[in-house]
Amino acid sequence: MNVNVNVAETREVTRIERIGAHSHIRGLGLDDTLDPRPVSQGLVGQTSARRAAGVVCEMVKEGKIAGRAVLIAGQPGTGKTAIAMGIAQALGVDTPFTAMAGSEIYSLEMSKTEALTQAFRKSIGVRIREETEIIEGEVVEVQIDRPATGTGAKIGKLTLKTTEMETVYDLGTKMIDSVIKEKVQAGDVITIDKATGKITKLGRSFTRARDYDATGAQTRFVQCPEGELQKKKEVTHTVTLHEIDVINSRTQGFLALFSGDTGEIKPEVRDQINAKVSEWREEGKAEIAPGVLFVDEVHMLDMECFSYLNRALEDDMAPIVVMATNRGITRIRGTNYTSPHGIPIDLLDRMIIIPTSPYQEKELMEILKIRCEEEDCEMGEDAMKVLTRIAVEASLRYAIQLISVANLVCKKRKGTSISVDDIKRVYSLFIDEARSCQFLSEYQNEFMFNEVAPVSKTEDVSKDSEVEGEVEQVMETSS
Ligand SMILES: Nc1ncnc2c1ncn2[C@@H]1O[C@H](COP(=O)(O)OP(=O)(O)O)[C@@H](O)[C@H]1O
Ligand SMILES: [Mg+2]
Repeated sequence: MNVNVNVAETREVTRIERIGAHSHIRGLGLDDTLDPRPVSQGLVGQTSARRAAGVVCEMVKEGKIAGRAVLIAGQPGTGKTAIAMGIAQALGVDTPFTAMAGSEIYSLEMSKTEALTQAFRKSIGVRIREETEIIEGEVVEVQIDRPATGTGAKIGKLTLKTTEMETVYDLGTKMIDSVIKEKVQAGDVITIDKATGKITKLGRSFTRARDYDATGAQTRFVQCPEGELQKKKEVTHTVTLHEIDVINSRTQGFLALFSGDTGEIKPEVRDQINAKVSEWREEGKAEIAPGVLFVDEVHMLDMECFSYLNRALEDDMAPIVVMATNRGITRIRGTNYTSPHGIPIDLLDRMIIIPTSPYQEKELMEILKIRCEEEDCEMGEDAMKVLTRIAVEASLRYAIQLISVANLVCKKRKGTSISVDDIKRVYSLFIDEARSCQFLSEYQNEFMFNEVAPVSKTEDVSKDSEVEGEVEQVMETSS
């Protein structure tokens, strides 16, 4: 339990360091009844999709339903990946969430199905319960002495108390090192894991709250523990099936977990592990914590992968698979068949589909405001209006990209707040996709490898007619 708290804290600290496309998203922004708040936890609008995602989260937390497939489908830039990231945040650190792009499976040094199997097993957690003995108390005194001769080991004593008792412990060299490393002082409330000697600081004792003026804002105050110093404590840790696989595949050992170079894992190893895990489950030592496997750009998978998914979803150790795509009716990779979203009908049939829809102007502005805050940029009201217009006319992504470059332009002129002129300047410096296309079709003859027929003819092959052709083809194949 304590370990998890620490993990959450370090995440908060490191989160500030880099700003990514989805770093402003902290959850799905739903209230207790799963109703989406208009703007919350970094997410704006797209309410029905968020609500649906909330239901999926509940399903995962229940943990009873295996192998459901959810497809988030919608136009580019409508927040599909953002919602998946929201799901990951809403589930918390204890529920496995694996994200991969469909195309990833082609670049690994293993077969496609092995890559998918590993992704599946990374998304299934095993919660292992263990009882450990700990010593928990408030530090009364720490005493560490160096022997006068300069050689020989250090000598240390640690006095701990609860509300009822006080004991002096002799410290070995290893314990002395960890006391120094953790900067344990009188007034700290700590636990010591008896088996490993690991020290965890729970906080400062309330009784000492007034002793120090220099306590930081993060200092947590806790009660002095009650009862015996030595306690039995139940701890649970969650490891994924994939981690167990890697540790037990003799050739690589656990170091492979860090290098990521796990190679293919033999099916016999997996069978043994599955058997062991179900043994643990029967004995009540462990339980399965199914997580989420998120496959973005799922239309990049081919027939082999789709058929693997069909089967793998039926396993009772399967996670919930969330997929996302922005394709309409298109060719299934590696075949001549077309299908909605580029996914074979038999797999589509097993899925529930969450649609996302384009944003209103007001929502776009809200998202841009959140991004400005995330990137620590001040922007004037008028500039924000112009940028929102750009998001409507060009695309949300393009508008988001302009924020940081406009901020640089603003800084260059030593301004404090991004102005309309800054936006105009970067709008002319960096073109969006539509203007780029126009430029290319005007000057295509001056570029290399240009294969497009002269402008007048390209109009015949407009997008609409292409899609229509494909619709017809679907009709043919399914009849
Ligand atoms: N509803 C939303 N609230 C907040 N940010 C959003 C929302 N929808 C999209 N975004 C942001 O807009 C950008 C594009 O969205 P993204 O999720 O990548 O689109 P998609 O995956 O559907 O193509 C990302 O930076 C994303 O975080
Ligand atoms: Mg995406």
